[in-house]
Formats: sequence, structure tokens, C-alpha cells
Amino acid sequence: MFIANWKMNGSESMLTGWLEGVDKTLDKNTQSECILCPPACFLFQASKIIKKQELGIALGAQDIDPKTASSLTGGIGGSMLKELGCEYVIIGHSERRELFKEDDSLLLEKLKSAFFANLKVIFCVGESFEEKEKGRTLNVLKKQLEIIYQVPLNNLMIAYEPVWAIGSGETAEVKYIKEVHNKIIEEIKSHEKGNFLGVVYGGSINSSSSKEILSLQEVDGLLIGGSSLEHKEFSNIAMSINEKKG
Ligand code: PGA
Repeated sequence: MFIANWKMNGSESMLTGWLEGVDKTLDKNTQSECILCPPACFLFQASKIIKKQELGIALGAQDIDPKTASSLTGGIGGSMLKELGCEYVIIGHSERRELFKEDDSLLLEKLKSAFFANLKVIFCVGESFEEKEKGRTLNVLKKQLEIIYQVPLNNLMIAYEPVWAIGSGETAEVKYIKEVHNKIIEEIKSHEKGNFLGVVYGGSINSSSSKEILSLQEVDGLLIGGSSLEHKEFSNIAMSINEKKG
């Protein structure tokens, strides 16, 4: 899968142009490997265009709020995302963990919210530079993964995003990605999850780095931030799918 995480970027005109551009470049098969995650305010428009133009691209939300009995001003719940046409939701992105202090107890509530709405979850994990230097990567990831076993998720995808690689222009080494992905797969499989959608890599991916990383058997796709904003660059990355098949 190729996940375009637009973060807090975009506009109505950018969205229209992006979907048009991707549709012109990618065949329907490759489109069906793509998930667009624009800011929540553009989900409605994205869903309308995708349906009308019969694009193969899936839609995902960048965040979800917990199900709560009390009122929550500004909250967007799972059923709302579903109604907007979302099939996926990103949970646990390091930017939200860090800037919004999203801890395990909140992330667990978000996972439950996604579960009740039957949304497929893209759960992000990753170590900081300091943790990597201290050789603590696998312990950190194991700890971050613990909460997912508390929710009977039907469709779970893990996004491995080393925090130091996000937006830094520095991707992790292929050997390192291979090793970490293998450990994550081993860990998830030992817990017998429902439908495991695999492990995608994210962190400064562009069309020059995508092919080699995607050629790894352990990498099921890419989570792309900055390079997903421009439809040509995103399409070029998505075309690395041929490396996988070939
Ligand atoms: P990046 O972001 O590709 O800009 O590094 C990836 C992400 O944070 O999902």
C-alpha cells in the first residue's frame, strides 16, 4: 500500500488537481494500492470526487477521537469518518504522540473507537534517535505495540516510522528496515491478530529511495509525508509497486 499522509497541508484546489493527476498517471490496479489521508476538512470533498470519478484510491483519516459518553467539542468519531467514506485511520503518529502528548491510554481509546466503527487501522510505531543510538529500538517498539493486543482489531496495519527519519531527509538503511520489520512481523504473529495487513515503512521516502525499500519482502508498503503532496512524485513512488511484483 502507498499511504499519502498530507498532514496539515492541502486545499480544495490541490485536492482536485492531485486526484486528477494521480488518476491520469496510475492504472486502476495501482490506484487500488493507494490510500489518501488528507486533513479531515477535505475528506468529504475527496470522497465525493473518488466516488464520482470511480477512482480506485481508498480514503483514510489522519486521526480519530475516542468514543466517549461525555461531550467532546471538536471531536470526530469513528462512525463520522466511516460516513465520510474512510476505510482507514492513522493512529499513533509520532507527531501526535509528541505534540499532543498522546499516550498509550488515549491511543487505546482511539483504537477502540476505530474498532467499533470497523475502520482499518494504520498504527504507527518508531524509535527516537537517542533510543536507536542506545540500541533500544526493539524494546521501544515492543512496548508501543502492547496496546494493540487489547483490542480485537479486524484489520491492522503497522507503520514503522523511525522518528529521526520523519521529515529529516534521512531514510533508515535498508538492512535496518529489514531487521526491524522482521521483528515487528514476528511480534504481531505471536499474538494471533485478526487480519494482519502487514508492515509499511515511513520516513523521508521519495521516488529515489522507494524502489529499494519496497523490494524487501518484509515491506508491504510505504507511508509518505512530504513527497505525497505533489501528485507526480507520489505517482512515481506508487509505481515502485512493479519492483514488488517483479
Ligand atoms: P515524511 O513523513 O515522508 O515527510 O518523512 C512521513 C510521515 O510522518 O508519515
